[in-house]
This record gives sequence, structure tokens and C-alpha cells, in this order.
Amino acid sequence: QRRDKIRNFSIIAHIDHGKSTLADRILEKTSALTQREMKNQMLDAMDLERERGITIKLNAVQLTYKANDGEEYIFHLIDTPGHVDFAYEVSRSLAACEGALLIVDAAQGIEAQTLANVYLALDNDLEILPVINKIDLPSAEPDRVKQEVEDVIGLPMDDCLLASAKNGIGIDDILESVVKHVPAPDGDPEAPLKAMIFDSLYDPYRGVIVYMRIVEGTVKPGEKIKMMATGKEFEVQEIGVFTPKPVSKEELTVGDVGFMIASIKNVSDSRVGDTVTHAETPTAEPLPGYRRLNPMVFCGLYPVDTNDYNGLREALEKLELNDAALQFEAETSQALGFGFRCGFLGLLHMEIIQERIEREFDIDLITTAPSVVYEVQLTDGESVRIDNPAEMPDAQKVESVQEPYVKAEVMVPNDFVGPVMELCQKKRGDYVDMKYLDANRVNIVYELPLSEIVYDFFDTLKSSTKGYASFDYELIGYKESRLVKMDILLNGEKIDALSVIVHRDTAYDRGKNIVEKLKELIPRQQFEVPVQASIGQKIIARSTIKAMRKNVLAKCYGGDISRKRKLLEKQKEGKKRMKNVGNVEVPQEAFMSVLSMD
Ligand code: GTP
Repeated sequence: QRRDKIRNFSIIAHIDHGKSTLADRILEKTSALTQREMKNQMLDAMDLERERGITIKLNAVQLTYKANDGEEYIFHLIDTPGHVDFAYEVSRSLAACEGALLIVDAAQGIEAQTLANVYLALDNDLEILPVINKIDLPSAEPDRVKQEVEDVIGLPMDDCLLASAKNGIGIDDILESVVKHVPAPDGDPEAPLKAMIFDSLYDPYRGVIVYMRIVEGTVKPGEKIKMMATGKEFEVQEIGVFTPKPVSKEELTVGDVGFMIASIKNVSDSRVGDTVTHAETPTAEPLPGYRRLNPMVFCGLYPVDTNDYNGLREALEKLELNDAALQFEAETSQALGFGFRCGFLGLLHMEIIQERIEREFDIDLITTAPSVVYEVQLTDGESVRIDNPAEMPDAQKVESVQEPYVKAEVMVPNDFVGPVMELCQKKRGDYVDMKYLDANRVNIVYELPLSEIVYDFFDTLKSSTKGYASFDYELIGYKESRLVKMDILLNGEKIDALSVIVHRDTAYDRGKNIVEKLKELIPRQQFEVPVQASIGQKIIARSTIKAMRKNVLAKCYGGDISRKRKLLEKQKEGKKRMKNVGNVEVPQEAFMSVLSMD
């Protein structure tokens, strides 16, 4: 039976442990193309793409492998995104598999993302095949790392395969192991359709392309299907697999991983994790694990040039077509004018969107400091969710404030335990646990407020551990904290876009830091500008930006025209990301500075 010959698997790894390189080697042995060639081919195939009108994303490819038993197997290799912001997508991609190759660097050993990925794989009952990669390195210690895999993850060390993806060592063993140990899919092809969406993307020619795994039943073109979470119905136009070329199929059935096109206009109608079923003969229960993606981090996006407001709206609408996690709504700031409050999965997601708006749509942005979502109980018994610090009600109206917390795991060599704990304490962390991975590496676990890590936690962690720390986190829920809103006043005027939520115990220090920082960042104006931090009516910190003394051009001694022009251009460049707030010119960096601690 065909289904016995199907193997669905992913490769999971900490960053740089060799996932892409191994995928390349696997592709070389199972398809005519390497990943690089696939990418090139995709570029070459642009015309074809236009003709056929389909976008190819290398996240689920069908491969064929002739095993030592003489049989031909069908592999579906499913790619997973590599960042904690996209943990839910990773978990759904893994849910589409029966097994995962767990790559561990033979010199580095287990790192934070190795563990985070293992947890996700275990949640989805995957068969995990450990592979110790980079055994060619002089610093490789495969025996030590095997022991670590056994001690920390609990997989028998004898099950570890040794490989060098770079030199092509051990690849055949890995492929045979996939055949032998990854279970074939199982399910009833006659049952009502249950297919899980693990990714989707918007294609301008064909509408949304849904990536899905058939868990039960069979789907064919022409059939009417229904998305169980949204209730939306569509007619299937085309189904198929990527090899990596899109190849149309007559049907997709149990165990198959492929694509579906069904005149879907918006990716929010094909949500990751949702179950696809037949409209007329639906399955009774959707697949478990569906979760609506909720943005965790919010910030305000404002055009530097107010004329770009409509362009910014259009840009956000376009990006939203392809990004179900992106949220936005119009917002007005007294300081910044008309803009949008946008919600993101995390800081990386936020940076990607900002960058795309600036690059692809050519709009200069002012972005306010990212904020998490606070749950606020008011004294009148009501409760509100606040994603913009400026909207936090006055302290006397607030009964209590809860903020999102994460469980964070940090792995470091012994020597850095001190600095890591110091940092976690400074970021209001609660110590949970510390475990030795081996004689000189430690896994430190803390519960931390999300607000303290969204901004510069990882950078600070890296610099205070000379780059040796690896870090991962997951959300664990809300906890009450003694938080207050701190306002910033420039020239006596409250600037809503600079308000920030801080802990009472550190409010004075933070206030002092922020006003000093703003003094550095805001250029001198024609007049003296007092910078103040206040809680309620009370001013808790103050500094002053002195008035500008002389014209910059005075430096040029009148003579050299080209130098003068250069200086003016430079000034203009610097001005690009400035915003007139009241009558003070404020640069972009100032809005972020309210979050930095030093
Ligand atoms: P991201 O794509 O950044 O998540 O990393 P990755 O896990 O896909 O790692 P990638 O395959 O890009 O490899 C990271 C680096 O390790 C590259 O410079 C590779 O050339 C190198 N590398 C991968 N496998 C091996 C190996 O077996 N031996 C040695 N010496 N280097 C390797």
C-alpha cells in the first residue's frame, strides 16, 4: 500500500547547527536538486511562475528515496521557521509530521532552541531522531554531546547518528533511519475529510495557497470545503504537491502533504492550525491544537511625512493579506498625529513588517516603543486591556495591573552563571531552576515579565556572556505586578508617544535614565527644552537640553562650498527620521530610548 511508503518529517535544530546544510544533502540524494538550485530554479522559474501563476515557498517538498530494502519511499520534508516569535507555526508544522531529525552541533552541544524544539516535537508525539552534526570539526566532542542528549533530552545515546552535513558523512544512515524509525501515516481515507493547515501564503495570481496535511479522508478538485474555525466555505480549484515545482494531483489523501488553491482571498480565511473539511459531509470534530494567533507586542507606526498616511494604510492592508498574525487599527497621537496601532507576534515580526513597509513601500516611519498587553482591573470593578502605555488610566483609578510572563531558559558555560542571574534579577525575574547539562554548562530557568525581554534582553545577554548564552522562552500567562504609567514631558508638554509602563520600585531610576537619554538624543533646539518624567502629577526626574549656540555652518569658515553642501545633506539625512513634537524636533531613537535600561 502506498501509504506505508510515506514518511513525513522535519529538521529541528538550534540556529547554525546545520539544518539548511543537512536539508541540502538530503535533497541531493532524493531529488535532482539541492536547496540552492531549488532557490535558483525558483528565481529562474519566475516566468513559469507567472504563466502558471503560483508562488513557491520551500516549506514542504515531496522527495523520493530508494531505500536499501529496494523500495521507493515518498518523503515530505517540512520546513519550520526558526524564531520564538513563530513558535506556533513551528508547532503546527511539526504537527504535520510523524518524525523529526534533531540536529545537535558536535562542538556546541544542546542549546536553548534545541530544547525548545524538542518540547514542541514531544507535544506532537513525534519520533525524534537525534543527529550529532559537524563531527568533522577539530573541536567536535561527539561522545560528550551524545551523553548530553541522553541526560538532558532522555534519548538513548546509542540512538544518536553521527554526521557531517558539510562533508556529506552519515547522510545515508540518516535517510535509512527516517525510513525505519519515522512511522508511516495512519488514518482512514474513507472518513470525512480532516486536513490541517500548517502554512498559507497569498499569491497575487491565484489567491491564497494553503499548505496542508491530510489526516483523514480524501480531497479532490471541484469539491466544496469548509474551514472549521472560521466557517468559511470555498470550492477547491487545484491541489498538488511541490517537488519543488508545483505538480497538480487528482486527489490528496491520508498522509499526503501538499497545497490547495480554492479562490481564498485572504490568509486570515486559512488560519494556521485550522482544520479543512468537506462542506456537505463535515467531520464531527476539528483537529486539536488550533489557536488563534494573538499579537503579543504592539507599537504605533506613524509616517514621518503626514502625506504618507494613506500609503501606510495601503501597505498594511497588503501585508495583512499574507500575514494572519498582523493586526492594525487607526490611532491618533497628540504628539505624532495620524498613524496606526499595530500588533505583532514578537519583536522580530515587528522589525520585519517595519522593514518591509520602508523598503517595499518606500515610507519612512516613526515607530513608538513596543508594548505588551496589560490587563488592568479598575477600582470601579471593570477591567480593560491596554496595549498602549499612553492609555493606562491614572493610578488612583487602577486597582491592579497584570502583565504577561514567560518562562525563559538560558544555557551558558559555568563562568557566566553570575552575569546571567544578575541580568535576570535586574529584569524582575523570578528564579525557578538551575541544572547542569554537563561538567561546565548550565541551564538556568527564570520566569520573567515579557515586557522586560521584548526589547534588549537578548542583546544584553549576549554581550554579558561573550556570546556564549543561548536563550529561548515561552509564554506562561499573566501575573500581577506593581506597575505605573510614567509620562514624559518635553518643554512642559506631555508627549503621549513617550509614555511608558514601569515598575514602582524602579520608577525613579528609570525616570532618571530616560530623561538623561532623551537629553543626549534630542538635538539642541533654538531654545532651552526641559525634559521631565512624571508619575501622575508628580515630577520624578528632570534634565535640560540647552539651546543651540551657533549655526553648524559656522564651522565651515564660509569658504568651502562642497563641504558646506555635504554638511547640509548630512543634516537633512539626520532629519529624515525626525518628527516635530509640539515645537521640539524629536529623532526616531528617542521613542525607543524609553525602553533601554542603561
Ligand atoms: P540557520 O539557517 O541560520 O538556522 O542555520 P542552520 O541550522 O540552517 O545552519 P546552516 O546549515 O546554515 O549551517 C551553519 C553553519 O555551519 C554554516 O556555515 C555551515 O557551513 C556550517 N556547517 C553545517 N554543517 C556542518 C558540518 O557538518 N561541519 C562543519 N564543519 N560545518 C558545518
